[in-house]
Amino acid sequence: MQQNKDYFVIEGFGGARKLKGKISINGAKNAVLPAMASSIVFKTPFNIKNVPQIEDVKRMSELLKGLKSKVSHKGKRGLTIDTSKANKTVLDKDISKRLRASIILIGPMLSRFGEASFPHPGGCVLGARPIDLFVDGFKKMGASFEEKDGYYHLKTKTGKLHGGEIIFKLQSVTATETFLLAGILAEGKTILHNVALEPEVISLARMLVQFGAKIDGIGTTTLIIEGGEMLSAGENDFYEVIPDRIEAGSLMILGAMASNNLTIENCNPEHLSLPINILRESGANIETGPNFVKIKSDKKLEVDTMDLRTHEYPGFPTDLQAPITVFMTQVCKEGTIFETIFEGRLNYVNDLIRMGADIKMWDAHHISVKGPTLLKGREVEGPDIRAGIAFIMAAIVAEGQSIIHNAYFIDRGYESIEKRLRKIGVKIKRVSN
Ligand code: EPU
Repeated sequence: MQQNKDYFVIEGFGGARKLKGKISINGAKNAVLPAMASSIVFKTPFNIKNVPQIEDVKRMSELLKGLKSKVSHKGKRGLTIDTSKANKTVLDKDISKRLRASIILIGPMLSRFGEASFPHPGGCVLGARPIDLFVDGFKKMGASFEEKDGYYHLKTKTGKLHGGEIIFKLQSVTATETFLLAGILAEGKTILHNVALEPEVISLARMLVQFGAKIDGIGTTTLIIEGGEMLSAGENDFYEVIPDRIEAGSLMILGAMASNNLTIENCNPEHLSLPINILRESGANIETGPNFVKIKSDKKLEVDTMDLRTHEYPGFPTDLQAPITVFMTQVCKEGTIFETIFEGRLNYVNDLIRMGADIKMWDAHHISVKGPTLLKGREVEGPDIRAGIAFIMAAIVAEGQSIIHNAYFIDRGYESIEKRLRKIGVKIKRVSN
């Protein structure tokens, strides 16, 4: 499968605060993907609204079609997924290798069909990204596991998973979602301890209850799922994808560095309480309403120190770690970041250093940043979705022109980013090859 070779060209503002206007937030990538996977436990067609037009949604649609499901578009942001004729139990290798969220499909596939085969899931290269939690959990629910010919194979003896008690050794977003979905059709009770509390997980659980699932403990770290029938939705029922807190958070950080009056619309500020607090402590003038964030300050921010560690929700999101590093280069005399979730998520700093940032990488988890520094435009390769957006942000505040390759990674998670950024004053163009 070919991926586009597009790249972005950005003319930086050299530190000036020139962005202004309104920018609207789309549905969350990490909420729409599990919602799409959940269609496998529905016996009726399932409607999803506020679907972002991003590459990962296309990949998830392709995976579902490969299982013989029907995925149809309803208007610009609607999808209807009908899995009533789905009968395949093998996930396409090329597509799964491009999308970590492909693994979420395994839970509903195994509980509905009694077997599922898949390659090691891909997605962003963020260190090892193991699947031990998944394998251990499915074994507890009665599946056997085998690795053969480049695929993992999970199979139940009876054609059904049974309930079980799973204690996750760490909080994992996709593992929680996968077992939530597995529990819906498993026989008996599934109890999940130490589950992730990210808003996308809670939104998925609430949606499942809306369509008939029996789940207790939503919003706590223990979920109890009473297995039973497939879910059903009426023709006019739908799930509306929650706003993308990472897109909103990235734009908010950009606004705090480079805008003089920016409104971020259609977001949920409650999902961003900690990042908002951190920006306010740095002097940013931020007003929030029920579904908007306004950055009003036009003064140059400067703080002596900032020490951040990434943490599961409601801690500081690892997906905002690269954007906040760019922020530190602009406003902070001495900053440190401790990336606690992934071990391969700081490699992008070498390119920020090439842009002139004063960053020291101590090990795979720790960096320190000295600033403020006027960055210089450079040619860089986006290594993953979130580092890609951070490079766009760095290029906007830098002096001169930057070229950011691997637009595909940014397109995986952000819809038409160049068009939306142009509306708030960014000088950005996409070059397609
Ligand atoms: N982990 C294991 N064993 C497993 C599964 C995970 O050790 O079997 C570890 C991971 O290596 C990591 C930790 O658990 O150290 C937590 O990772 P988690 O499983 O929560 O991450 P994920 O579910 O693979 C989701 C998001 C990521 C986001 C993380 C953390 C989706 C599709 N992906 O990944 O989003 O960074 O949670 O919040 O929901 C992104 O959108 O760019 C992205 C990478």
